Parts: sequence; structure tokens; C-alpha cells
Amino acid sequence: MRISDSAAIRTAGELDDSGAVRLARLSRRFDGQTGPVDALREVDLSIADGEFVSLIGPSGCGKSTLLKIVAGLDTDFSGTVEVGGRAVRGPGIDRGFIFQESRLFPWLTVEANIAANLSLRDSSVRDRVHDLIRLVRLDGFERAYPKELSGGMAQRVAIARALLRDPAVLLLDEPFGALDAFTRAHMQEVLVDIWTRRRTTMVFVTHDVDEAVVLANRVVILAPRPGRVRSIIPIDLPHPRITSSRELQEYRFDVLTQFESTPRPAERVD
Ligand SMILES: Nc1ncnc2c1ncn2[C@@H]1O[C@H](COP(=O)(O)OP(=O)(O)O)[C@@H](O)[C@H]1O
Ligand SMILES: [Mg+2]
Repeated sequence: MRISDSAAIRTAGELDDSGAVRLARLSRRFDGQTGPVDALREVDLSIADGEFVSLIGPSGCGKSTLLKIVAGLDTDFSGTVEVGGRAVRGPGIDRGFIFQESRLFPWLTVEANIAANLSLRDSSVRDRVHDLIRLVRLDGFERAYPKELSGGMAQRVAIARALLRDPAVLLLDEPFGALDAFTRAHMQEVLVDIWTRRRTTMVFVTHDVDEAVVLANRVVILAPRPGRVRSIIPIDLPHPRITSSRELQEYRFDVLTQFESTPRPAERVD
């Protein structure tokens, strides 16, 4: 291990066992046009405080459903869902959510978007907003409007907004999916930097294997129909990581091997 990495490492021993997120026998069924769809069936998953978990799996395997349930945006599930030891019954300021689109208010400046319904006239709010603007590397853009920002910059505003109330858990649903490869790599670096400084628990949904392994402490692979946890692969490497490093490529191979051994519903297995 290189010495320069050691300050940024979060070892398992540093993680708090109280558990940021706990799912037990979580199931969610929808009424589809051709009958019921088991978006999630009996999912068990515990995420420790301060952990960075990537959820990965093919389209339709229940990733967004799982995230919305943890966010409290969908309460029509069965099983146990707890955040910080408390049962989830709806949205709360202990959880921040970031979607694929930034969902900024076009008529508000960057700082007003981040402050949301808090007043920038309050100096403590203003200070927090400006600290967050520095954290997401948007210094100088405080008074810019969303139409003046690139996609990556807008998404950084969304991240700052989600962090304003210092949530224990950040839930990210393919947040960089619409960005080009270079911007995406930069955003991953910004996110790892935020995580290293603030120790916010991250639950990051992606369908990109490289993105999952470069970011997470653990990659949770979901399988579809019914949506369930197929396997969990710990990525035992310090941050910041180098995508092209041999160790990371070995983990990437492990994740891909899991995918390739997942039977697809349309295939005969005999
Ligand atoms: N509101 C809904 N009504 C009916 N079916 C839904 C609804 N939301 C999701 N589903 C179904 O549940 C499954 C999982 O969806 P989703 O969580 O969006 O998957 P992913 O995010 O992994 O692509 C899919 O088969 C999807 O069609
Ligand atoms: Mg989705």
C-alpha cells in the first residue's frame, strides 16, 4: 500500500456497527400488465455507517425500487427497512437523494438551489451553502443559473443540495449515467473526496461495473425476476483508486464473472 493513500482509507474496523441501513426480508410486488412483478423478493442487506456500497445489476432488477424504499418514497413494501436503527415510514432529512437528472429549479441561482427552502439571509445557512459550493468545486458559480452550467456542474449542485442538512445516508440513482466518460471520471473523484471528508454513508446505484468497483467498499450484485441479492463482493482497496490498476481490474473481473453466470430468463439452461 502506498503511504500517500493511508490517510484516505476507511478500514472495516473504523466502521460503526450500529448500521446505517438495514433491510430484512424486504419484498415489493407491483401489478404489471401481464401479472404481478416481484421487483424485490426477500432482500436482506445491512450497510454499516460510513460504508460506500454500489448496487449493480441489469435493468429491471429492482435497484431504483430498493433506493426509493430506503428514501421513504415508496412505503408499500413488506419486511423491515431501518435507517439509523429507526423504521422508515417516509422521507426524512437523515437521507439525501440524487437522481440521474439534477432536477434544479431553473429560475434559482446555484446558491439558492442548494439552500432550497432555507433562507440565504441567515448567515449560518449562507456559510453552509458556501462551504458546500467549495466542497463540490463550484467556487465562482454561486450566482450562476442552471442553464449556464454543464451537466456535471449541475449534478454537483444537486449533490451539494442533498448534503445541506448533513444526511447520514446519501442515496444515488445512476447519478452520472447521463454524463460523458471524462466528466463521469471527474464526478467519481469529487464524490470519493466528499465521502472521505464527510464519512456520509453512500448507497450508489449504477449499471456500470467499472464505476461500481472504483467507488465502493462493497459491490452488491442484484439479479432480476424476482429482484434479489445475487452476491456481494468486498473491494478491499484504499481510495483514491486508479481504474487501470491491476488490483482493480481483478475485482472488475470477479464482478463480471458473477454477471456472466447469472441465467437470463429467456435462456434454456438444459
Ligand atoms: N410503479 C411501477 N409499477 C409497475 N411496475 C414497476 C413500477 N416500478 C417498477 N416496476 C417494475 O419493477 C421492476 C424493477 O424496476 P426498477 O426498480 O425500476 O429496476 P431498475 O432500477 O433495476 O432498472 C421492473 O420489472 C419494473 O418494470
Ligand atoms: Mg433504475
